[in-house]
Amino acid sequence: MQNLITTSDFTNEEILSLFDDAKIFSDLQTRPILKGKLIVPLFFENSTRTRSSFEIAAKRLGADVVSLDVGTSSRSKGETIFDTVANICAMKPDLIVIRHSQRGLPQSLVEHVSCPIVNAGDGENAHPTQALLDLFTILEHFDSKVKGKKLAIVGDVKTSRVASSNASLLPRFGIEPIFVAPKHFQVADTKLRQYEFLSEIIDELDIVMSLRTQLERHSQIYYASLQEYAKDYCITKKCFGKRDILLLHPGPVNRNVDIDDEMLEDKRNKILKQVQNGVAVRMAILKKLLLQN
Ligand code: CP
Repeated sequence: MQNLITTSDFTNEEILSLFDDAKIFSDLQTRPILKGKLIVPLFFENSTRTRSSFEIAAKRLGADVVSLDVGTSSRSKGETIFDTVANICAMKPDLIVIRHSQRGLPQSLVEHVSCPIVNAGDGENAHPTQALLDLFTILEHFDSKVKGKKLAIVGDVKTSRVASSNASLLPRFGIEPIFVAPKHFQVADTKLRQYEFLSEIIDELDIVMSLRTQLERHSQIYYASLQEYAKDYCITKKCFGKRDILLLHPGPVNRNVDIDDEMLEDKRNKILKQVQNGVAVRMAILKKLLLQN
């Protein structure tokens, strides 16, 4: 049985084969190949994109989806996460999707469940399906000619699971991730190139991935306001100029903090394409884990 806890669970060949399926699914039409399968998304952290994307992906493939409403679940009565998951498993789902603020939790559940688990984000550790949809979007944009492309991940790279998953996945396909962050958001022990300002590196770049500042993961206040941070890190037309750079963001975007209004309208921005591709990539992931195990 195969799980998706980090992107290293899939070989490059498996990822490219997954993307072949995602291309077929990219019209997001209904193909009921998972009829009779039951998928249970367990989201113990907020989500708009990932949760709805998994649910739509499952339904487009004809699977049934039963989502736990964490706010009204018995977790609030003191049940441990392991007992919650054991009880869900006793009802025989075919696959569990889990998001939790605790780093490593999906991995620690693997030996307690009898169906595949997909990590939909664990704290600041990993967000493998986001990195896979980012890579799919990049390959699509550059017609698969990505060897040697350089991508700057800009902002709160230190607490970002998206940065961490992309930093390990993209080099496997010849793309160089570079971190651009204020000193207090920089990663201490990275082998990646790291800069303080985008202007230092922008002329080398093919792709910019802007990030949200993850205030919920900070133990101290770094800026008096997000507007203070935005002065140096908001992506604007002035900073991009006429350069042919692909602009990505995993969402949710803090408008005029991460990216300004004008760049959110700019044709170089493919954020909604990422969201659309996310459904196709997750359809391919569900197919792989449910039909090839
Ligand atoms: N990209 C992403 O994980 O968005 P959500 O938090 O809305 O799921």
